[in-house]
Amino acid sequence: MAEETVKTGEKNKAKTGNEVVIAIKGLKKSFGKKHVLKDINLEVKRSENVVVLGRSGTGKSVTIQCIVGLLRPDGGSLKVFGDEVAEMSDKELKQLRIKIGFLFQSGALYDSMTVRENLEFPLTRVLKLKDQGEIDKRVEDALTSVGLLEAIDKLPSDLSGGMRKRAGLARTIIVNPEIILYDEPTTGLDPITSREISDLILSIQKKYKTSSIIITHDMECARIAADRMLIMDDGVFIAEGTFEGLHKSKNKTVEAFFKDIL
Ligand SMILES: Nc1ncnc2c1ncn2[C@@H]1O[C@H](COP(=O)(O)OP(=O)(O)OP(=O)(O)O)[C@@H](O)[C@H]1O
Ligand SMILES: [Mg+2]
Repeated sequence: MAEETVKTGEKNKAKTGNEVVIAIKGLKKSFGKKHVLKDINLEVKRSENVVVLGRSGTGKSVTIQCIVGLLRPDGGSLKVFGDEVAEMSDKELKQLRIKIGFLFQSGALYDSMTVRENLEFPLTRVLKLKDQGEIDKRVEDALTSVGLLEAIDKLPSDLSGGMRKRAGLARTIIVNPEIILYDEPTTGLDPITSREISDLILSIQKKYKTSSIIITHDMECARIAADRMLIMDDGVFIAEGTFEGLHKSKNKTVEAFFKDIL
């Protein structure tokens, strides 16, 4: 790992805890002869936003799929809240996935359901809530948090790309996850909407004290949301630091990510 200074305590950032919620050591994952993750080491602390950058196909999505147990690593250790994910039973994995929100690139809303119905779904199916008053309140609170209350009765097809991201984010936070994994949350959005979503990621971290891994190619999103950043290349992390710290790096691969940033 390159030597980069990690600065903490910047004014606009949420306070990061000391408790490690995700601990990855020596993680390996291959598909046939293709060694995608070679030696991934990563710790995420409570209330910390960690941004992962990396060229296309370097294994960023594979890493977060390992974290939620959707892919099985070939080697190394991957602990969430202190427990090894590979050793979890199906029941334990189900419990874990309630604590980990996963924002897919597409937003993954059900097209035939209104925004309200999309948000009720995890409450009734996953948390098994029955009290309609409580369900209504949680749906409205989540939509208010993402600034989308006025679209509660709309269908996803009637929403703009940015609104769909907000709805997906509301559905992620409605079950109060302790960790949120964002896979390219701003891809496909215009710069202004991307900025709004990045601000929202930061405000969700502050409001709910969530820990997050944010995979992105959007340097503005990284600048806004990251407490710490890591750069993945060829199956390992090659650099780590704050946005400002990495911006000053003389490493060629790191510099390439900042080439359009003033
Ligand atoms: N289920 C799978 N089976 C076989 N190969 C896979 C599978 N999932 C990912 N890969 C391969 O692993 C490599 C890394 O994929 P991954 O999706 O993690 O890339 P990424 O860093 O997220 O890229 P992008 O920025 O384009 O999203 C790719 O070569 C991909 O083809
Ligand atoms: Mg990906």
